Amino acid sequence: MSAGSGLTAQPNPQEESALIVRFTVNGEERSVDADASMPLLWALRDLLGLRGTKYGCGIAECGVCTVHVDGSAVRSCVLPLSAVEGKHVRTIEGLGGNHALQRAWIEKQVPQCGFCQPGQIMQAAALLASNPDPDREQVRESMSGVLCRCGTYLRIEAAVQIAAAELRKAGEHSD
Ligand code: FES
Ligand code: FES
Repeated sequence: MSAGSGLTAQPNPQEESALIVRFTVNGEERSVDADASMPLLWALRDLLGLRGTKYGCGIAECGVCTVHVDGSAVRSCVLPLSAVEGKHVRTIEGLGGNHALQRAWIEKQVPQCGFCQPGQIMQAAALLASNPDPDREQVRESMSGVLCRCGTYLRIEAAVQIAAAELRKAGEHSD
């Protein structure tokens, strides 16, 4: 198992498939003792109490469970816990509530039922971290994997552009 930070997963002698997995979540060092194949989403919600990230399809098809691992957007419902050993995980809670994207989401009144929105915002944050000035097609392409049953796509696109402009003006990175 790779360990970017030099941390090493330790086998739990009580259970062959269990591991103590250490990683950071929203800048805080955390460790969980769980089956190595447990999806990251389960660990975040059920073991660490971070319930902002939602469960939708469970098969990497809807994107509502999107979080960042070392800055990249990943579907946490299918990522085994063992894969985040020594890595940096960021969830919607890690944006802090006043991120430019979150302000833009409010400005454009994006959410309807709201269920998909944590995944939408985390996907958008990963996009702006890698491309601070995406055009409309690039926004559409990047966001296309996160589904919204309420059809908020046009408002999402507008909000991403607003946040991108604000971050560029402030000379800030999406992170
Ligand atoms: S719940 Fe993970 S992609 Fe749908
Ligand atoms: S706001 Fe309802 S599913 Fe997206």
